[in-house]
Amino acid sequence: MTEENPPPPAAVPHKRRVRYRGKNPRRYEEKYKEHGRDPETIAKVIAAGKTPVGTHRPILVAEILAALAPQPGELAVDATLGYGGHAQEILPRLLPGGHLLGLDQDPLELPKTEARLRALGFDASVFTAHRSNFAGLPQILAAQNLSGADVILADLGVSSMQIDDPARGFSVKLNGPLDMRMNPQRGQSAAAWLEKISAAALGDLLVANADEPNAAHLAPALAGKQFTTTLQLANAIRAVLPRLGKEDADATVRRVFQTLRIAVNDEFSALDTWLRFLPACLKPGGRAAILTFHSGEDRRVKKAFANGLADGTYAQIAEDVIRPTPAEQFSNPRSAPAKLRWAVRAK
Ligand SMILES: C[S@@+](CC[C@H](N)C(=O)[O-])C[C@H]1O[C@@H](n2cnc3c(N)ncnc32)[C@H](O)[C@@H]1O
Repeated sequence: MTEENPPPPAAVPHKRRVRYRGKNPRRYEEKYKEHGRDPETIAKVIAAGKTPVGTHRPILVAEILAALAPQPGELAVDATLGYGGHAQEILPRLLPGGHLLGLDQDPLELPKTEARLRALGFDASVFTAHRSNFAGLPQILAAQNLSGADVILADLGVSSMQIDDPARGFSVKLNGPLDMRMNPQRGQSAAAWLEKISAAALGDLLVANADEPNAAHLAPALAGKQFTTTLQLANAIRAVLPRLGKEDADATVRRVFQTLRIAVNDEFSALDTWLRFLPACLKPGGRAAILTFHSGEDRRVKKAFANGLADGTYAQIAEDVIRPTPAEQFSNPRSAPAKLRWAVRAK
C-alpha cells in the first residue's frame, strides 16, 4: 500500500447536531450551557454581563469593604452568606486571629458554600457556617459566649444560585414548581400560599411588597387560585393585562413574583427583627452594612439607622445611599437595584 492510496477511513457514525428548538430554550441544561465548562467560557459569560449558573457575583464589594473596614483579629458576621462572595473578601482581612460567622437559611446552598470556602483554605478556626435565619443572630452569638461582632453584613434577598435553579421556583423565565422558599424545609410554598389568600389581602401585599400599580386588577384574578408552576402563574399574570407591552408585562410578572417571595419567606418580619437586634449584636464601635434591593427593604433600613443615630445608638450612619457605578451595573445587571447603607455603633 502506498501513500498515494491510503485506506478508506473507518466509517465514523455521523453525529447529528442537537436541533435548536427556538430562540428561548426552556430546558435548564440548554439555557445554561456553561455548566461544567472551562474558565474561558465562564469569563465570556461574565463579560457578556451575565452570571455563570451555580454562582453569585458579589455586589458593591469595594464599597462594603470600605464601610466595614474588617481588621486582623476581628469577629465578623456575614448574615446572608449566599455564595460566600463577600465573605471570601472579608475573611483574609480578618487574619491573623479573626473569625467569620456565616449565616444562611438555605439548607441546599449553605453546605456547598461551606465546602467552597473550606477549599479556599478557610478552616473552622477562621470560618464557621450556621444554618439560621439572621433574626436568630443574638442566640448564635450567645451560644458561643460572644458579646458582639466588630463587623456585620447583610445582603438581602435571594442569590443567583436560588434564582437560576428552576426547581426552587423563583425564576420568572424558567419553568419549575411554584415554591420560592429559601428554606424549603419550613413554611408553605408560594402555590399553597396563593391558594389560601383573599383578593383583598393579596391586593394590599402587591402594593406593600412591590408597589404594583395594577394590584386591583391582578389580585382578584390570582388570589385563591391553583397554580402549580411558575410558568402557569406568569401566563395568568400576562392574561390579566393583555394590553401591556412586553417590557411592562415582564416587569409586572417580576413584581408579582417579588410580592409572593417576600410573603412566603416572611422577609419584612425577619428584617424588622434583625434591625431591632442589630445594635445589640455589634460591639461598641462595630460597623454594619446592609444591601437592599427594593424600596420596602431600603425604607426600613433607612428609618432604623436614622432613629439609631437620633437616639445615640449609632455614632455615624451613611449620609446618602450608595449605589453601584454604571460600570458595575453594566457588567452585572443584577446589581442595578442595589442600595447600600452603613452604620457605626456608638462607643
Ligand atoms: C443576595 S444573597 C447573598 C450573596 C452573598 N453576599 C454573596 O456574595 O455570595 C442572599 C442570601 O441570603 C439568604 N437569606 C435571605 N434572607 C435571609 C434570612 N432572613 N436569614 C438568613 N439568610 C437569609 C438567602 O438564602 C441567600 O442565600
